[in-house]
Amino acid sequence: MIKQPIGIFDSGVGGLTVFKEVRRKFPFEDIVYFGDTARVPYGPKSPRTIIEYSIQNARFLLQCGAKIIVVACNTSAAVALPELQKILSVPVIEVIEPGALSAVKKTHTKRIGVIGTEGTIRSGAYAEAISKIDSEARVFSQACPLFVSLAEEGWEDHPVTKLVIEEYLTPLLKNKIDTLVLGCTHYPILKKALMDFVGKGIKLVDSAEAVTEQLQKVLEKTDLETSGTDKFYVSDNEEKFRLIASRILNKEIETLINVKLGESWYLT
Ligand code: DGL
Repeated sequence: MIKQPIGIFDSGVGGLTVFKEVRRKFPFEDIVYFGDTARVPYGPKSPRTIIEYSIQNARFLLQCGAKIIVVACNTSAAVALPELQKILSVPVIEVIEPGALSAVKKTHTKRIGVIGTEGTIRSGAYAEAISKIDSEARVFSQACPLFVSLAEEGWEDHPVTKLVIEEYLTPLLKNKIDTLVLGCTHYPILKKALMDFVGKGIKLVDSAEAVTEQLQKVLEKTDLETSGTDKFYVSDNEEKFRLIASRILNKEIETLINVKLGESWYLT
C-alpha cells in the first residue's frame, strides 16, 4: 500500500482550525499542512495574485505526495477554485460549499450573515453558494480584514479584538440575522470573543466541521493506508507559527519546515 497524505493549505495559521478538525476525525491519516506565512494575508490581494499563490501552494502539496488537497482558505476557494480544479489531478475539497450548506441547515429565519476577507466577500461566493441551496435565503455580508491580523497575532482575548468585533459586527446585526458564517478559517480562532459579542441567539457556522463530512466521502473512495503523522511547512516565521499553532491545537507541533514557494522553489 502507498502512504499518501492529505494536503491542507492556507495563507497562514487559519487553516489550522480545519487541520484540527480533520486530525480529530481521521486519526490514522497522514497530513501535510502548508501555511503561506510569508505572503499572508491573501484577503486584500488581487484575484490574479491569489490564484498564483494558491496554485503554487497546491503544487507544493502535490510534490509532498498529497492524495487530496483541502483548500482551508476561503479566499483561495472563493477566487481560485476553478483554476485549482483545472490543474489538479487529485480531488479538491474546499470550505465554502460545506459552510453554505451548514448555514442553510442551521437558519430558521433564512437571514444569514457572512463575514470574511475582502477577497471572499467581494467574490460573492457565499451568497451564490447559499442561494443555490435555498433561493429564499437572504445573505448579509461584511468584510472583516483586521480579524486575520488579530488571529495571526494571537490576540484572541485582547481588548482591541473586542473593539474591532464591535465595529464590524454592529451594522451586520441590524439585519436581524440568526446565523453567522465564519467565512475565513482564521475567524474560529476568535470564536469565543465573537460568540460573546453576538450572543446565544445567533448560531455560528465554522466550516471546518462541515469540511470533514465532504472529506469522509472522498476518503471512502481511496484505500491508501497511512499512519497518522503530521508535517507542517510554512514560508516564513516558524517560531511565531509554532507558538500560535500550539495554542490552537493545544499541543506542540513536531515537524515544522521552512519552504520557499515561487519561481524557483527550494527547501531549507
Ligand atoms: N484564512 C484565510 C481565509 O479563510 C485567508 C486569510 C487571509 O490571508 O487574508 O480566507
